[in-house]
Amino acid sequence: MVFDPSTYLDGVPFEEIARLRSQSPVVWVDEIPVLGWPAGPGFWLVLRHAEVESVLARPQLFSSAAGATQIRDPATPEALNYVRQMMLNMDPPDHARLRRLLTRSFTRRAVSQLEDGIRDHARAICDRVFTGAGGECDFAEEVAADLPLLALADVLGVPQQDRWLLFDWSNRVIGYQDPDYASSAVFHASDGTPMARQALELRPEPSGDGQMPDPRTREGMPDLYAYAHLLAEEKRRHPGDDVMSILLAQVDDNGGQVSVAEFENMFWLFAVAGNETLRNGLPGACIALLEHPDAQDDLRADPALMPAAVDEMLRWWTPVMTFRRTATASCELGGRSIAKGDKVVVSFASANRDEAVFESPDRLDIRRQPNPHLVFGYGPHFCLGAHLARTQMRALFAEVLARTSSLTYAGQPSYLRSNFQRGVKRLPVTWTA
Ligand code: HEM
Repeated sequence: MVFDPSTYLDGVPFEEIARLRSQSPVVWVDEIPVLGWPAGPGFWLVLRHAEVESVLARPQLFSSAAGATQIRDPATPEALNYVRQMMLNMDPPDHARLRRLLTRSFTRRAVSQLEDGIRDHARAICDRVFTGAGGECDFAEEVAADLPLLALADVLGVPQQDRWLLFDWSNRVIGYQDPDYASSAVFHASDGTPMARQALELRPEPSGDGQMPDPRTREGMPDLYAYAHLLAEEKRRHPGDDVMSILLAQVDDNGGQVSVAEFENMFWLFAVAGNETLRNGLPGACIALLEHPDAQDDLRADPALMPAAVDEMLRWWTPVMTFRRTATASCELGGRSIAKGDKVVVSFASANRDEAVFESPDRLDIRRQPNPHLVFGYGPHFCLGAHLARTQMRALFAEVLARTSSLTYAGQPSYLRSNFQRGVKRLPVTWTA
C-alpha cells in the first residue's frame, strides 16, 4: 500500500504508516508490479526520525550513487550512469566539488536580488487572482504554479517567456506515474525565444500506446538538453547576473571550470527540484490553512508568526515523501540486518510525524518550536534551494492572507499519482476579500 503510487490519489496513508512506525523503525516493503512496471527487489523503508538522520548522515554506507536516489532502479546500466552525472546522485568526494561551486554561486548579491524578485512575483500573481470582493480560484493552478517557475527562471537566467518549458519538463519527470502529467505540453513554441523554438523541435511525442520515452534518460529529455546547451553557450558568451552565469564563470580547486555537460545536468536537476517541490508545497500549505482556519486568523493577526508557520506547514504537508539510498556494506539499522546492495528508502512523510520528536504530530501548530523537520533532507545533500523555497512560501502567503479574510474549500482537491512527491493537481478555493 505505501509503495503503490495509486494509493496517493486518495492522500497519504498516515494511519498505516504510523502503525508501521510504532512496530519498527525500519520495515521491509515488497515492490509489487504497479502501473505496468515489473516487480522490483523490494526495499527497507526507514520510518523514524533518528534512523532517517542516521542514514542520510552516512553517505559512504548509504550511497546516493550506487543505485541513484529513486525507489525504482534505473532501467539499464547506461541509464544509471547517466543519472549519476547529477549532483543529487553523487557521493563524496565527487559531490563536494559541484556542491561547493554551486554554493559559491549563490552570492549574497544574487540571493538578495532573487528575494526581491520573488516578492514582486508573489504580488503580481495575487494582483491577478484576488480582485474584487471575493470569488473562487484553483489555488494549485492559478496561484501556486507560476511562482516557482518565475523564481527558477531568475535563478537559471532563463528568459521569462520560456518559463513554462520548465513546467512541462518537471511534469514529465515527476509526473511520469500520472497520465495527466506524463506527456505535459503546455508551452507553445510561438510564445518563446528562438532558443526555445529550436529546443522544441526535439520534444518527444507519446507513442501509439500513449507511452513517453523514459524521462530519466538523456534520450527521454532531448528538448531540455538542447535548451540547456544553448543557454550555457549563450551565458558563456554574454554572462548575466543570474546564479548559472556566476556558476559558469567559477573556477574549481584544480583550476577547472564547470563543463557544458555538467551544466546541462545541473540545469535538469534545478528545473525539476526547484519547481515541482514548491508547486506541491504551496497548495499543500494552503490545504494546511484550509483545514485549520484558526491558523489563518492567527497569521492574519500576527504576520510575525509567518517564518515558523511556513516551516510547520512544510512539515505537515512534506512535499517530498521519500528518497532512496543503497547500502554499500552489510550493516544493522533500527534492529534490522541490511545486506550489501539493499535499497534503503527514507520516509520524510513518516519521520516528520514521528511522535518521539514532534508532540501531537498530526496537529498543525504554527508556533511549534523547535521544529526539526526533515522536509529538505539532512546531511551532505541537504536541499540547496531551502532558503529560496522558504522565501517563496513566506512571500506568497503574506500576500494571500493580507488580501483575504477567509479561505475555504470550494471543492475536492485532486492529488498526484506518485509515491515520491505529495502532489496537488487541483485545489478549488473560495476566498473573501
Ligand atoms: C518545498 C520545496 C522543496 C523541497 C521539499 C525540497 C526537498 C529536497 C530534498 C529532500 C533534498 C535532498 C535529496 C537527497 O537527500 O537525496 C533536496 C535536494 C536538492 N534540492 Fe530541494 N527542495 C525544495 C526546493 C528546492 C528549490 C527551490 C531548489 C532550487 C532552486 C532546490 C534544489 C535542490 C538541489 C539542487 C538539491 C540537490 C542537492 C545535493 O545533491 O547536494 N530544491 N531538496
